[in-house]
Amino acid sequence: MGDLEDRAREALTEIESAATPEALEELRVRLLGRKGEITAQLKALGSLPPEERPAAGKAVNEAKNAISAAIAARRQALSDRRLDEELSGGGIDVTLPGRGIPPGARHPVTRTIRRMRDILTGAGFSARSGPEVEDEFHNFTALNMPENHPARAMHDTFYLPSGMLLRTHTSPVQIRSMLAEGAPLKIISLGRVFRRDSDQTHTPVFHQVEGLAVDESVSLANLKSLLHEFAERFFERKVEVRFRASYFPFTEPSAEMDVRWGDGGWLEILGCGMVHPEVLRHGGVDPERYTGYAFGMGVERMAMLRYGVTDIRRFFENDIRFLGQFAP
Ligand code: PHE
Repeated sequence: MGDLEDRAREALTEIESAATPEALEELRVRLLGRKGEITAQLKALGSLPPEERPAAGKAVNEAKNAISAAIAARRQALSDRRLDEELSGGGIDVTLPGRGIPPGARHPVTRTIRRMRDILTGAGFSARSGPEVEDEFHNFTALNMPENHPARAMHDTFYLPSGMLLRTHTSPVQIRSMLAEGAPLKIISLGRVFRRDSDQTHTPVFHQVEGLAVDESVSLANLKSLLHEFAERFFERKVEVRFRASYFPFTEPSAEMDVRWGDGGWLEILGCGMVHPEVLRHGGVDPERYTGYAFGMGVERMAMLRYGVTDIRRFFENDIRFLGQFAP
């Protein structure tokens, strides 16, 4: 028994000074493992005379419990120390900020399109779309630009080998919608258009928003008030507008709307007019009964004005430093 107590005291000192979790584990196996010293003592109880067994058993169990508790305490201390070392020693600087996930943002052209769409659907228009690869009929002929019409040349059209073309404006959607739905009609069309043109204010692909209202008593006054209201909502301020007589083959009369800009000058922002009777007829709408107005504008141009961008090409270069400035 004296032996056991000495041996237990020794074991506790060894446990206290185990330097690593590995050394501690070795000790545990040597003391408490299946072939360990204390385990052997427990087994030896069987060979003692019966009257000695209770006292001896109690002593071995006490030794075993004390050693188990010491090992558990030492294990905790060693693992705490290892964590402290990892946190303070060069490995990981826990004070560094995390890498984070940079937030994305909508492209300024998308934002502008959505803004226009929201304003116009709020005014009762619903959105329609049409194909980007068009035929001559919808892009030109039905819009009162017969073959050899000089206005066709102004559009710098991309022709495809098949004889189809890339639509030069969103106006063909006027024809498609009238043919599909008849009158009355109040629609907008937002999408990509294509022209062979490239400089600081032109790109070969850009976006337009088109509006068309056809009904029994649609008037030029309706058009003017809608567009004035649209401009004020789009720029989020009072704006002065003027309508300047212009020419489009598919509207009569035709106008361009200017807004007062900067220190007193006027800036053109869109084309519009009363739908030409010939265009209504091509859309299957009776021009004796119905009238209509239409307008069309360039999305990038409006985005340039709203955001103060001076080169339209910035919108297509996808430079993240440029695009990042439009995050809300
Ligand atoms: N389609 C014309 C353009 O591309 C714009 C426009 C649309 C003008 C509708 C009048 C009416 O320039």
